[in-house]
Amino acid sequence: MGVIKKYLVTGAAGFIGYHLSGKLLAAGAAVTGLDNMNDYYSVALKQDRLKSLRKFPGFEFIRGDLTDGPGLNEVFARCRPDIVINLAAQAGVRYSIDNPQAYIQSNIIGFFNILEACRQYPVEHLVFASSSSVYGGNEKVPFSPEDPTDCPVSLYAATKKSNELMAYSYSRLYQIPVTGLRFFTVYGPLGRPDMAYFSFAEKIMSDTPIQIYNYGDMYRDFTYIDDIVRGMENILTKPPARDGQGVAYKLYNIGNNKPESLPYFIEVLEKALGKKAVKEFLPMQPGDVYRTYADISDIQNDFGFKPETDIETGLGIFAHWFLDYYQERYHK
Ligand SMILES: NC(=O)c1ccc[n+]([C@@H]2O[C@H](COP(=O)([O-])OP(=O)(O)OC[C@H]3O[C@@H](n4cnc5c(N)ncnc54)[C@H](O)[C@@H]3O)[C@@H](O)[C@H]2O)c1
Repeated sequence: MGVIKKYLVTGAAGFIGYHLSGKLLAAGAAVTGLDNMNDYYSVALKQDRLKSLRKFPGFEFIRGDLTDGPGLNEVFARCRPDIVINLAAQAGVRYSIDNPQAYIQSNIIGFFNILEACRQYPVEHLVFASSSSVYGGNEKVPFSPEDPTDCPVSLYAATKKSNELMAYSYSRLYQIPVTGLRFFTVYGPLGRPDMAYFSFAEKIMSDTPIQIYNYGDMYRDFTYIDDIVRGMENILTKPPARDGQGVAYKLYNIGNNKPESLPYFIEVLEKALGKKAVKEFLPMQPGDVYRTYADISDIQNDFGFKPETDIETGLGIFAHWFLDYYQERYHK
């Protein structure tokens, strides 16, 4: 048995942070979770996630904000994490159109504070969340980490691209081993109510029309949460090797490598929920992209990453959880 690693997971009450923390704790790791519990979406759902993490003796929760630099340094000084996973961020593409401030605060200032803390309290590995949105309107598919990412179509995407650049400079200057993961539309139980699959489920169950943008002509590389967590687990304890210039920095796509059309995704969701949607067809929204499609050959070659959950199975598990969690609301 190896030495038990100490993990700091920011955004631990969030969707991906919760699932990852649970997996690490179940394997016997010590996890400090940090989250500001903001009300961008249901705080009750964030609390329910925490409730289930608190069952593990290795879990400690700190309510804190990335934008509080001194507070974050205190957390690092006290916990001395071996591995830091930064998942806390202001997520969502559409929200960034009306609320740009939130993105600058959490994703730029907050991320800078994480980098500073990793400089002052050296860590074995910093893993951070980037996003498929950095590819913007890239027409070449699948999206490869080698492709240009200089034309973000939302401020959210611009903050994620900035994170990649900021992390590279800190990795280079201060020898911090860093891996950035570009997530592609992650979904699953206890997921994010602001994402389409979740809000569609709410609307379908309450007979409210769902908005189908670009008249349904859109594709998303939906990636099931368990595949993401399995992929991340393999990466956490394996920081990148130093390159020719001595920099231990790497970026990966982590996606399903199988884009689904929006109409097919809705059809599968309707089947899983046992109910038809009322559909409203609308033009493309600002900030949205036509298609996402991950080239995952790098992560496949380096870590053997292989997504195993098709959308029929994954949405089936999501719908089962959703109907159970909200059974009083929808009178199952
Ligand atoms: N879920 C996806 O499909 C997806 C896709 C691409 C990228 N990402 C990125 O992955 C990460 C995790 O995403 P998620 O889906 O779990 O989102 P989430 O919103 O469920 O989780 C983020 C958590 O961070 C917390 N948080 C936000 N700002 C904070 C701050 N300033 N200080 C402390 N805590 C703060 C929130 O309260 C939330 O619980 C995010 O960085 C997101 O941008 C997610």
